[in-house]
Amino acid sequence: MFQGRSFLKEVDYNKNELLYLIDFAIHLKKLKKQHIPHKYLQDKNIALIFEKTSTRTRAAFTTAAVDLGAHPEFLGPNDIQLGKKESITDTAKVLGSMFDGIEFRGFKQSDVETLAKASDVPVWNGLTDDWHPTQMLADFMTIKEHFGTLDKLTLAYVGDGRNNVANSLLVTAAILGVDVTIVAPESLQPPHAIQQLARKYAMKTQSKITIRSDINGVENADIIYTDVWVSMGEEAQTENRIKLLRPYQVNKTLTDKILNKDFIFMHCLPSFHDLNTEIMKEIKWKYNIDELEVTDEVFQSKNAVVFEQAENRMHTIKAVMAATLGNLFVPKI
Ligand code: CP
Ligand code: NVA
Repeated sequence: MFQGRSFLKEVDYNKNELLYLIDFAIHLKKLKKQHIPHKYLQDKNIALIFEKTSTRTRAAFTTAAVDLGAHPEFLGPNDIQLGKKESITDTAKVLGSMFDGIEFRGFKQSDVETLAKASDVPVWNGLTDDWHPTQMLADFMTIKEHFGTLDKLTLAYVGDGRNNVANSLLVTAAILGVDVTIVAPESLQPPHAIQQLARKYAMKTQSKITIRSDINGVENADIIYTDVWVSMGEEAQTENRIKLLRPYQVNKTLTDKILNKDFIFMHCLPSFHDLNTEIMKEIKWKYNIDELEVTDEVFQSKNAVVFEQAENRMHTIKAVMAATLGNLFVPKI
């Protein structure tokens, strides 16, 4: 049922398909830990196009492809002509004739859609300005591993509610039937069209969607999630974002409001809790702020599952590639 399909945004797959991929990833994780081979992509070639930088997504696609028996080829912004000397359509036709699958991380969602249309091979969205679908599989896998279920859980996302991760969390939670609260200042709340889309799915799954600007909205959360205040490509917004989002920092005062003391803290990473990175030092000096979207105290706390989440990027990306491109039957699990 997955063979030959792309994964460009969460709504491309229905609830059962997303749940299947999460369970398949949990199965593949067990195989990996037990050193049991799982070469579903033997002799396939995978192109990895990155217009924006990446640690997790690039590493996850690369290691997942190798574990599956495929050959990954990294094509960075300075390596290929894409969008500069050659159209997306022409590049897609060329790559589609040589590679069996293509990962794309970039700016415009329309570019990854064009790539999929013109290449004739499965294309996987490794993040655009609008969506981050492979991140969602890892996030909900991590939640399922932690709580043993996705039922009766509430996820509260705090911070920039208008970025790719916020869009994806809102819509994916609605598809999967998880209650979701977005806590963000009014000007950074999810666009109307995304809210409408999420509400359409929420009607089917009975998921409860709440959008609010008051940080007391985190009280009923089982999962507290945040992302950077300035996404890739938005660097010119830094000053304004810090001004708007200071009250939305995930710190001890905020997490103390959560009634479920066994809540988990999630972040897709990279995160600005570390004062020693080069960019953070500059921000600290320029804007007189020590930590941004999350404090080191919360990031290092026992509630944080951020590195499990990061590892699960690989297992879930493996599941997507094996299911859509696998040269074996995808197992019943
Ligand atoms: N979470 C995530 O996509 O990380 P990278 O930007 O490092 O790939
Ligand atoms: N919202 C962030 C996510 C990084 C994984 C960005 O787009 O930069």
